[in-house]
Amino acid sequence: MKLSDKIRYVGVNDLTTTLFEHQWPLPYGVSYNSYLVMDEKIALIDTAAAAFKEEFITNIKNEIGDRKIDYLIVNHMEPDHSALQAVIRAEYPDCTIVTNAKAVPMIEGFNGITENILTIKEGECLDLGTVKLQFFMVPMVHWPETMVTWCPEEKTLFSGDAFGTFKAVGNCITDSGLDTFGDFKDEMTRYYASIVGKYAGPVQSALKKLGGLEIGRICSTHGPVWENQITQVVQYYDKLSRYEASHGVCLAYGSMYGNTEKAALALAEAIKKRGIPYAVHNLTEENYSFALRDVFKFDTIMLGSPTYNNGIFPPVRQLMEGICDRQVKDRRFFAFGSCTWAPASVRLLNEMANAAGFGILAEGATFKQGYEPAKFDADAIAGLV
Ligand code: FEO
Repeated sequence: MKLSDKIRYVGVNDLTTTLFEHQWPLPYGVSYNSYLVMDEKIALIDTAAAAFKEEFITNIKNEIGDRKIDYLIVNHMEPDHSALQAVIRAEYPDCTIVTNAKAVPMIEGFNGITENILTIKEGECLDLGTVKLQFFMVPMVHWPETMVTWCPEEKTLFSGDAFGTFKAVGNCITDSGLDTFGDFKDEMTRYYASIVGKYAGPVQSALKKLGGLEIGRICSTHGPVWENQITQVVQYYDKLSRYEASHGVCLAYGSMYGNTEKAALALAEAIKKRGIPYAVHNLTEENYSFALRDVFKFDTIMLGSPTYNNGIFPPVRQLMEGICDRQVKDRRFFAFGSCTWAPASVRLLNEMANAAGFGILAEGATFKQGYEPAKFDADAIAGLV
C-alpha cells in the first residue's frame, strides 16, 4: 500500500490472536506494521509476527516485484516484529541487517543470525540513493535495544512501538478521512498502559530527543500511520507518559459472592448522581488491562476487594500490582470491600497505595458478611471524589 512514492506499507492485520503477548485481549485485533523505503536501494523496516509469513512476503513482492531488499532495518526485537527476519534473509540472502549493538545478540538469540549485520550508532545515517535513513536510540520504548528510524527527505518517523495502538487497521492504513485518533484513542491508551506504561521516563526522553524533528508522518509498528493527527497523538503520548489524568474515577472490583460487587455498584450509582465521569470494571470477568487503561485516564482509583486468605482478592491484587509496577503517579485512592471474620484487603491496598505516593481519600470502608446499604455509605464516599 502506497504511503508516498518511496514509502509503502507491507504490514498485516491480525484478527485471530486473542491475547497479545498471551496476556492482553485483542477484541478488535492488532496490526503488525512493516514498511518499505524504495529508493536506489530498498530498505525494509521491521518484519511481522511468525504466523503471517506468506501474507507478509506477498505484500513485499506486490510492491517490489523482482527487486531485492538491500537492508532490513531492525528497530525492535520483540518477536511480533522480528519473527520473520530469518525468512527475509532466506528470501533475500544478500540483505544486510542494520541495527544497533544491543540488538545484535538478540538477533542471534531469537533467530540464529550472525552474518552480514551492520551495527550503527546514535545519529548515524544510511544512504539509500536519493533519501537517507537516520537512527536514534530510544532505549526502553519498549525494550533496551529499541531505536527509531528517521527519513528526513520524507519527513517520516518509523517509531517502533511508540504511538502504537491495539486494534487492526483494516484497509485504511492512514488516519486520513477518519476521526482516527478518536477511533483508536481507547485502544492506544490500553496499549500504552499495558505495554509501555512502565517506561514513562524513557518515553519522555524519547519525546525530547525527537522533539526537534519536523515530522510529517509517523509510522508505528501497531495501528494507523499518523499523517493528519500527529500533534494530537504526540501531545496525548506526552500526557500519558507524564501520568496526567482527567478528573474522574476508575472503579474496579472483584467479588466472590456478590457483596463487594453490590457495594461497588452502589458507589458507581452515587458517583454517577454527582455527574463525575467514571468507569466500572469487574475484575473477575474482564482482563485487568481495561481497568489499567482507565487508571491512566482518570485521577481517582477506587478498588473494591473482599479479604481472601487474609489478603487482597487475587484479581484485585493483580490490578494493584500492575498499577504499582507502572509507577503510576499523582492519583487519589480509596479502597473498600467485604470480609467474613477478619478484614485485611483494605488495609493492604492502602499500604500499597501509600507506597505508591497516592493521596488516600479516607481510610477505606470495610463491612462484614452480607452487603447492606447501612454498612456502606456510598453517597458519603462519592462525596470524597
Ligand atoms: Fe510490538 Fe514491543 O513490540
